[in-house]
Amino acid sequence: MLEQIKKVKFGAPAAERDINQGLKEYFVETGAFNRLKENKKSIILGNRGTGKSALMKMIIEHYRKNSTIVIEMFPEDYSYELLQSTLVKENDGSWAKVSAYTASWKYLIWVLIMKEYSEKMNMVFKTTAKKSHVYLRDNHKGVTNNFMDLMISYLKRIEGLKIGAYEAGIKTKELQGLYKLEEINNLIPEIIELSNKRQIVIIIDELDKGWDASEDAKAFIAGLFQASISINQHTSNIKVVLSVRKELHDNIPSLYEDYQKNIDLFETLEWDDETLFNLIVKRIRYSIPELKNKSDKDIWNTIFIEKIFEQKSLNYIVSRSLYRPREIIQLCTEAQSRAIEKRSNLIDINAIITAEAKYSENRTKDIAAEYKFQYPDLINIFEAFRGSKCTMTREELEILCLQIISGEIKTGHKTEWITKQNEEFLINILWQIGFLTARTTVFLKNENCDNFFGPHQVSLVNLSNIKEFSIHPMFRLFLGIREQ
Ligand SMILES: Nc1ncnc2c1ncn2[C@@H]1O[C@H](COP(=O)(O)OP(=O)(O)OP(=O)(O)O)[C@@H](O)[C@H]1O
Ligand SMILES: [Mg+2]
Repeated sequence: MLEQIKKVKFGAPAAERDINQGLKEYFVETGAFNRLKENKKSIILGNRGTGKSALMKMIIEHYRKNSTIVIEMFPEDYSYELLQSTLVKENDGSWAKVSAYTASWKYLIWVLIMKEYSEKMNMVFKTTAKKSHVYLRDNHKGVTNNFMDLMISYLKRIEGLKIGAYEAGIKTKELQGLYKLEEINNLIPEIIELSNKRQIVIIIDELDKGWDASEDAKAFIAGLFQASISINQHTSNIKVVLSVRKELHDNIPSLYEDYQKNIDLFETLEWDDETLFNLIVKRIRYSIPELKNKSDKDIWNTIFIEKIFEQKSLNYIVSRSLYRPREIIQLCTEAQSRAIEKRSNLIDINAIITAEAKYSENRTKDIAAEYKFQYPDLINIFEAFRGSKCTMTREELEILCLQIISGEIKTGHKTEWITKQNEEFLINILWQIGFLTARTTVFLKNENCDNFFGPHQVSLVNLSNIKEFSIHPMFRLFLGIREQ
């Protein structure tokens, strides 16, 4: 019914705002959340909009309820540009930047922990952590709360030694001291002792805000990874939890190379039809309390039409996504507006398809923007597919890719990153970012399923034997792709 459709609030597309709109009520407790709670994981990896911040916000709630102290590092506070402009370039100083950042992160985090204990448990801190109390008083009294300043000052000390004119022996000794955190090392046992009384977690999210792919930005994140792993080894009572976008992680060589070594610490966020269905139904149930006792299926059917082109409407909607909650929320919200405009009693085929047109355009542009550092101007490569068939044999696809690479189809000067590559490379990239799906056989719900799948659904190690490809439905309406 129209009245019910009007009542539904699908929520805000970003967790930072969603948390004030009901996320606590309609959060889907996935395995990822439980593993985080059980202290098994400390690094959250996920594409944009897959729920990293939602997980962080909810884990913070969980910790606060347990009276664990939480330190949240806010996105406004990172400033890659500042780092870039303040510090000497790697080439000019021959300094191992990742190590410098690792040491600075460790220093920063330990100092923040001390400050937090001193604030939250003042008397206990003074008596249990005497040396730390004196250290804070003498070195960080009235220091700003801007943690970037603290970090940069440490980096600057390392930089000064690295590039300054000192006698070699002194230089090495002093540097060793800074790398090993000599200044605070003897305080750490006290802090660990204190953490037995009250646990502390440091939550670091949205590291990609202002990301510029610079040398410093990469070293900043690589250093944080190392620092967090090292700090987490001391005791389970002190924990650093961080999240990072997958494509950003894949773009930092030192992280990528270490991935296997630390694989047990990573939680990669993944969704499927069922969990996404659950996510939407919970939101509807929350918005319309009188539906509370209905089954999930009934709730869905109160708001959405059952089928679209012989396909369940849920599957239709989910198939227009890369399995990211933000996409589903966006498409549903858009379709809801269309249904209300047309005074429809259900979010029907009409509402969904008109919503999809705008959605498809936004998503195509967003995906291109998401990979702008790795693959600049991807949008022009997408454009080269405009009007093409939706499924293609490998040969047809290779011909099109060759035309793009050779410049026969013009994609602009910013896409020169493809000019030295072959068609295999381009097909691989287009698959990885979700633009292409590959026809293959997988075992799904107890049966062999022969269909087109993307990397959000299956992991294919080798694409070279795939004979048929399809353009992912999310991009089709915008690019005028012809369906069979
Ligand atoms: N487990 C969940 N239960 C309910 N809603 C969720 C869940 N995970 C994510 N969402 C919702 O999905 C949307 C996108 O999630 P979120 O903002 O956390 O993504 P993100 O990974 O942090 O994205 P970005 O990389 O852009 O920061 C938000 O509306 C969020 O509330
Ligand atoms: Mg986020």
